[in-house]
Amino acid sequence: MAIQPSSPALPHSLEEHLASWGLRSFSTEADYYAWQQEVLTREELVRLHDLAGDRQGNPAADLAFYDLAASPSVLPVLYSERYHYYLEVGSAVAAHLSSGQGVLDFGCGVGILTTWYAKLFPEVTFTGIDRSSQSIAVALRHAQTRGIKNVHFSCVAIPDDELPGPFDCIVSTHALFQSETDPGLPSQTWQTFERARDVQVQEVVEKRTGIKDRLDSLLRSLSSGATLILFEKSGHLGRRVLLQRALAARGFQTLVDPRVLSYQSIDQMVQDGPLYVLRRTSRRPTRVWVEEPEVNPDQRLYGCTGASAEWVWPRLPNRRVKWKQSWEAANREKIYLECGEADGALTYGYMNAECRFRGVVIGSLSDEPFIDRFLDKAMGNCERDPDWSTALVRIWPKTGEEDLTQTPLYENHTPAAQEVWQQLSGRKVYQQETAEEPDGRQRHIEFGTCARELAYLYWANTFDQRQIVIMDQLRVHILEEYFLESVKGNPADG
Ligand SMILES: C[S@@+](CC[C@H](N)C(=O)[O-])C[C@H]1O[C@@H](n2cnc3c(N)ncnc32)[C@H](O)[C@@H]1O
Repeated sequence: MAIQPSSPALPHSLEEHLASWGLRSFSTEADYYAWQQEVLTREELVRLHDLAGDRQGNPAADLAFYDLAASPSVLPVLYSERYHYYLEVGSAVAAHLSSGQGVLDFGCGVGILTTWYAKLFPEVTFTGIDRSSQSIAVALRHAQTRGIKNVHFSCVAIPDDELPGPFDCIVSTHALFQSETDPGLPSQTWQTFERARDVQVQEVVEKRTGIKDRLDSLLRSLSSGATLILFEKSGHLGRRVLLQRALAARGFQTLVDPRVLSYQSIDQMVQDGPLYVLRRTSRRPTRVWVEEPEVNPDQRLYGCTGASAEWVWPRLPNRRVKWKQSWEAANREKIYLECGEADGALTYGYMNAECRFRGVVIGSLSDEPFIDRFLDKAMGNCERDPDWSTALVRIWPKTGEEDLTQTPLYENHTPAAQEVWQQLSGRKVYQQETAEEPDGRQRHIEFGTCARELAYLYWANTFDQRQIVIMDQLRVHILEEYFLESVKGNPADG
């Protein structure tokens, strides 16, 4: 019996389950923090804050953090932050569980998801393990008091303790990576996202992140033909490639396309994962592992509204209109919309609705389809929604400096910046520096001019960070200042 994530009964019963753990759903930070202050003592808050700060790469502090998280007052408050994570990840994992299995939930914590899986699949035996004894005590109590009989919990720390097993299925959600901040494998140079295939580097980073010991220890408990379901904090490309190569080297292939999951963390949308469903097989792989960064179309577009838009719009040089349109919104107000190219280097969309709204949205030349789509959506809002200006402000990409003179014509701080930089025509570099940072990563920074009247600053490193800022040439001195500030204290080596 495989349950599909689209099953309408699923999220509802999971919500009831989360309520049975005392968890609540919040959509604003203000409400969440007000509840936190109400429920937790000052000492608990200080201790949690200190342990949260210390726990990266420090197993003792990590253990103390999860022990404290399991105490009766802290548990609902802390784990409510993960409310939507549970809804999304729990449903996605459950969709790949099936009857007749013995399932291990590694790093189960207090067993919030484990007990839900057990209720959902009464004929399957679940085993939850965690190194936090306080968490395991809470998990046991919850299962006992609610009569959930098909779940066992034990305090096991891998790789030091022997794991029970073998299991037909192992689930690990947010538990395999020792350090949540480790950047994983570096790219070959700052100019590429590709990772060299170097077995020794792979081994060093697997050991450093704890992947090696944990994965090998889990695999000893996996029966042949068993399924591995993983959902880790592997959104960062360096960590994703590390994990994928570690899995491939141990004979795993993906059974379905890995899927990034999006969920709300209080008031922010988070993209996390991907979710991997894997099996060991000697057959020829049917899917290739994707080793490129995820580029979300929304991340490609830069934009501003109000005073910032009014400031940016006239400074876009050499505008060439591709299409324009004037029409009336739902409340008969006049709206003007224009789409075109600036300086043969950028695509722009401009919307002007007299006193109600002004917005500009900008991308690279190849982003024209995204800008068209965005403007279509904006027009749809104006035609349907009587409160269209509020709806527009909600969907419009927003930037803008307090000091308008510092507002760029375009900027991008995502992997998409590399493509924008590569596409800049007539690039003339004024100054550049490639240097080794104290932690060993290589970074490059350059500034110069491009197209006819634009200036740019580009920054890239071997851990996938990219940034580009484009201004008009009259403000090249601002970019030069950024450049000098960034290179200060980091001597160049090439
Ligand atoms: C972020 S929590 C995830 C809990 C749960 N899997 C979920 O998805 O909400 C990570 C859990 O892994 C446990 N853990 C970390 N390293 C472990 C290890 N080496 N052996 C056993 N448990 C471990 C921690 O104690 C913690 O409860």
